Amino acid sequence: MSNKAIGALAKEVGDDWKEHAYYEDVERFMPDAWKNLILPVIGGCDFTTTVDLAAGHGRNTEFLLPLARTLHIVDINKENIEFCRRRFKGRDSKIRYVVNDGSSLSALRGDSVTLVYCFDAMVHFDSDVVRNYLREFFRILEPGSHAFIHHSNYTGNPCGKWMDNPNIRNFMSKELFAHYAHKEGLTIVSQKVIEWGGHPELDCLSLLRKPNPPQRIGGSYTRRDGMLLVLAGAHESAKFTLARPGTVTLEAHAHAWCGRLVVKQEGRVLATFEVNEEQPQSKPCVFEAEAGEVSLHAEDRGDGRSEAWVKNIDIEWRKASAAPQA
Ligand SMILES: C[S@@+](CC[C@H](N)C(=O)[O-])C[C@H]1O[C@@H](n2cnc3c(N)ncnc32)[C@H](O)[C@@H]1O
Repeated sequence: MSNKAIGALAKEVGDDWKEHAYYEDVERFMPDAWKNLILPVIGGCDFTTTVDLAAGHGRNTEFLLPLARTLHIVDINKENIEFCRRRFKGRDSKIRYVVNDGSSLSALRGDSVTLVYCFDAMVHFDSDVVRNYLREFFRILEPGSHAFIHHSNYTGNPCGKWMDNPNIRNFMSKELFAHYAHKEGLTIVSQKVIEWGGHPELDCLSLLRKPNPPQRIGGSYTRRDGMLLVLAGAHESAKFTLARPGTVTLEAHAHAWCGRLVVKQEGRVLATFEVNEEQPQSKPCVFEAEAGEVSLHAEDRGDGRSEAWVKNIDIEWRKASAAPQA
């Protein structure tokens, strides 16, 4: 779909939100939503540079502002940004105001944001607009940082109009959102289906993470079939170095005929990955590692096969920082 067509889809929804009694009506629900719905999901995130996407009249901003060092308030409607300017006047030294085009975040630099936050807004966005934003989140997020997105889980009216749907939700599902996020390079950390307006399972809260790119990989390995590395036989082994301690997720891939993937650090086995399935499949292999060299080997499972496949490596640095208070 062309950018122009996506822009038109965004405008159609955006136009509905220039003036709305809704903003004032829902302000009072925010403390409870923040404490019981939102904070349990985002409590461990880094708020240093936060984007409040589709901020409306700034009820979420009230909660994000004390936690952020820089807060970008973004909305398609200049009326809402002007409202926020008035609301936060005199306490907006950390705030940057952005009126956007409804599907891109071109005012924000790549790798510059530590948290994208979007609550009670993307539920209305067309799926192509959602996909565009996911691409933008990947671009603007610092590696290792998060996007918290409240989106629709409504698939009841696939060929109809969003305004006919319960609570004017647009077409989206937990699974389609995860699929789009994955295609845009983001990792799905968690997804929680929630009720909204008395409709069970209408919405979903997704926490995404931009993976840390794999560190320089050395050793001897084969490249094949879109894999990051294939250890084809016992003579091949790959290694990478961690600058700091972290949690490593290997997206390991298995065929019935593969051997076992063994992860070692200083002679210690950190993890083994073994899947003996008829269907080829990928599964996360998660382990803690200290700073230093980590090595990957393929081992024979007892049937003479020793081949291991790794699709991706993602590192989450271990943090000492505490979660923010409610
Ligand atoms: C239901 S209001 C919610 C506002 C705010 N997030 C809240 O919780 O109060 C939806 C918001 O999304 C904004 N919006 C709609 N489409 C948008 C788009 N494509 N990009 C950015 N903002 C959009 C509207 O202007 C409005 O501020």
